[in-house]
Amino acid sequence: MADFPLVVEPLGPGHDRASFNCGEPSLDAYIRRQASQDVRRRVAQTFVALGEEPQEIAGYYTLSAASFEKEGMPPEMAKRLPHYPVPAAVLGRLAIAQQYQGSGLGEALLIDAIKRVLHASGTIGVYAIIVDALNDSACSFYKRYGFQAFPSNPDRLFLPLQTFVNLDL
Ligand SMILES: CC(C)(COP(=O)(O)OP(=O)(O)OC[C@H]1O[C@@H](n2cnc3c(N)ncnc32)[C@H](O)[C@@H]1OP(=O)(O)O)[C@@H](O)C(=O)NCCC(=O)NCCS
Repeated sequence: MADFPLVVEPLGPGHDRASFNCGEPSLDAYIRRQASQDVRRRVAQTFVALGEEPQEIAGYYTLSAASFEKEGMPPEMAKRLPHYPVPAAVLGRLAIAQQYQGSGLGEALLIDAIKRVLHASGTIGVYAIIVDALNDSACSFYKRYGFQAFPSNPDRLFLPLQTFVNLDL
């Protein structure tokens, strides 16, 4: 892990969005141009990890509410779920600035996101966290943590929250 304290907070107007560069143009463009608007419209919340410089964004992730049809799931899981759409939280984006990659920050932000969703699920039902992986590399990152692909869509992965209830996160 990086040798400075992890501070994660909601994206605010003072954060330096323009300098963020994770090497994936769509994720850079999102934080620079779209994230604040999505927060204002309440379609996604963005959380940023601060870097070593004041207001520097070392990494970010987004969360939104969603639901999915159980028909896309493995049959063993689907049979235990209701017939109406299943509630979920979408980790829409996760990106670490290039100079901070490989130091454990991606894992730390993923855990931070899971904790926030677990906390929210004490108030509003959330069966699973869903991620949309941009590429095979992102897929393999998420699979390390127990995410599994929807059989109907290999780029969309899910992780039931039940996985974490007995863990001291
Ligand atoms: C993918 C990404 C989020 C990972 O974050 P990171 O801070 O570099 O990763 P971490 O240092 O936290 O790595 C944690 C573990 O995952 C492993 N890992 C990192 N990236 C991986 C990948 N693409 N595939 C498989 N494993 C990966 C690390 O080796 C490490 O394992 P270890 O603890 O056994 O050493 C980051 O590199 C990134 O933002 N990349 C560009 C944008 C992107 O592709 N985002 C995915 C969004 S869909």
